[in-house]
Amino acid sequence: MKFFIDTANLEQIKEAQALGILDGVTTNPSLMAKEGITGHDNILKHYIAICDIVDGDVSAEVVCTDFEGMVKEGEALADLHPQIVVKVPMIKEGLKAIAYFTKQGIRTNCTLVFSVGQALLAAKAGATYVSPFIGRLDDISTDGLVLIEDIRTVYDNYEYETKILAASVRHTMHIVECAKIGADVMTGPLKAIEGLLKHPLTDSGLEKFLADYAKGNS
Ligand code: G3P
Repeated sequence: MKFFIDTANLEQIKEAQALGILDGVTTNPSLMAKEGITGHDNILKHYIAICDIVDGDVSAEVVCTDFEGMVKEGEALADLHPQIVVKVPMIKEGLKAIAYFTKQGIRTNCTLVFSVGQALLAAKAGATYVSPFIGRLDDISTDGLVLIEDIRTVYDNYEYETKILAASVRHTMHIVECAKIGADVMTGPLKAIEGLLKHPLTDSGLEKFLADYAKGNS
């Protein structure tokens, strides 16, 4: 499973990249605003700064909601850097835009996906990635992981090439469960990724190894 970090914070992206396990970055307008990145030109510069830190795919989201606007904006984003994947919302105009981008060879991430039906449409339009938001489903007492399982089944039934990018990952066990189900990618916060490192037996075992080494070499 590929690991993407879901943030526009350059320090956190650098920290995740330094771990040696980062495969890409996802952003959205809310994450950009959280970092105080505002204004068209600043946002574009920020995408380039992210691409300069990581080797993999960087999702950059369109903010137009009509087909022509999305196409213009998406083409400009794709031209920014070869690592950019154009993130498009799962609405009617977005679906048309994804189909258009697919024909143009522009890679896409279909975002704000909350149902199997939406994921099926994204795959038929040729989206490179589909982003089901598992945490936001959990927030409304609906099991987000079941959606990942169901999309996996449907995509495997028809051998769709669209990659399942589990998004709105909130914690470490979301990551583990996504890996068990067979999500292709997960995107989550640095804290959730670093949570995978932790085990008390690792800490106590290391403490004992170091203490025994110190005894024998003092
Ligand atoms: O990748 C989508 C993600 O940014 C949404 O996460 O935590 O706002 O639901 P969250």
